[in-house]
Amino acid sequence: MTAKDLVKAILPPSVRGWLKAQPLRGQRFLRRFRSEANLGSLRRTTPACADWGGSRGQIIDRYYIEKFLAEHRGDVRGHILDFCDDSYARRFDGAKTTKVDVLHLTEGNPQATIVADLARGEAIPSDTFDCILCTQVLQYVYDLDAAVRTLHRILKPGGVVLVTAPGIQKIDHAGTEADFWRFTSPGLRRLFEEFFPKDRLDVQAYGNVLTAIAYLHGFAVEDLRREDMEYCDPDYQVLIALRAVKR
Ligand SMILES: C[S@@+](CC[C@H](N)C(=O)[O-])C[C@H]1O[C@@H](n2cnc3c(N)ncnc32)[C@H](O)[C@@H]1O
Repeated sequence: MTAKDLVKAILPPSVRGWLKAQPLRGQRFLRRFRSEANLGSLRRTTPACADWGGSRGQIIDRYYIEKFLAEHRGDVRGHILDFCDDSYARRFDGAKTTKVDVLHLTEGNPQATIVADLARGEAIPSDTFDCILCTQVLQYVYDLDAAVRTLHRILKPGGVVLVTAPGIQKIDHAGTEADFWRFTSPGLRRLFEEFFPKDRLDVQAYGNVLTAIAYLHGFAVEDLRREDMEYCDPDYQVLIALRAVKR
């Protein structure tokens, strides 16, 4: 008989349970003497600024979106599709644009030249665009597979889609469409791999634990240092960006 069997045989279950819990109790007791985390002005249950930081300066995810678009400026050419308005198409086009279309889901946007649902896509012609700037759109589309199928279909062969999507970000209750999804770099890659060739896909994640917390609290780029913004930690993805090319 082992010592364990002996203890089992002579001690009632209630006493055995009490003995097992002792190390845990000890740990809980010692925890009282640990120094309290200094959360400073972050010890609050509501955000410091509820407008994503727009009233304080540049919005943190916009810094990453615009960095990504600037890095891929060379793709923004020919017939471009932008969403909501044409500001990114104009800003990053490098004068190689032949035409810009603006897609919006609902009627009533004066800048929209195409009113359509990406998930259905019937109002958007196939093999049309050299470049699609699909920034901050996919979180509003419930059927992501259908949306990516449409993005692939409407690109010309050799055309490029530049996508950005939210990672650790607060939910947008202000828009007319529901804010359905948050993304990770493997998730976004997998979604696009269903339709685009794997060797023509690049995914990049931006942000770190500090920029994630700052963004959730509504602090702006101006509240942080440049090195805070530039450090990318794959465990804390604030923004995920993807470039995919149609074969
Ligand atoms: C926040 S705006 C993003 C556009 C902007 N260029 C940006 O960088 O923020 C969201 C856009 O996604 C569009 N959208 C939402 N759901 C959609 C859907 N199912 N099909 C097509 N567009 C959709 C909206 O109409 C809107 O133009």
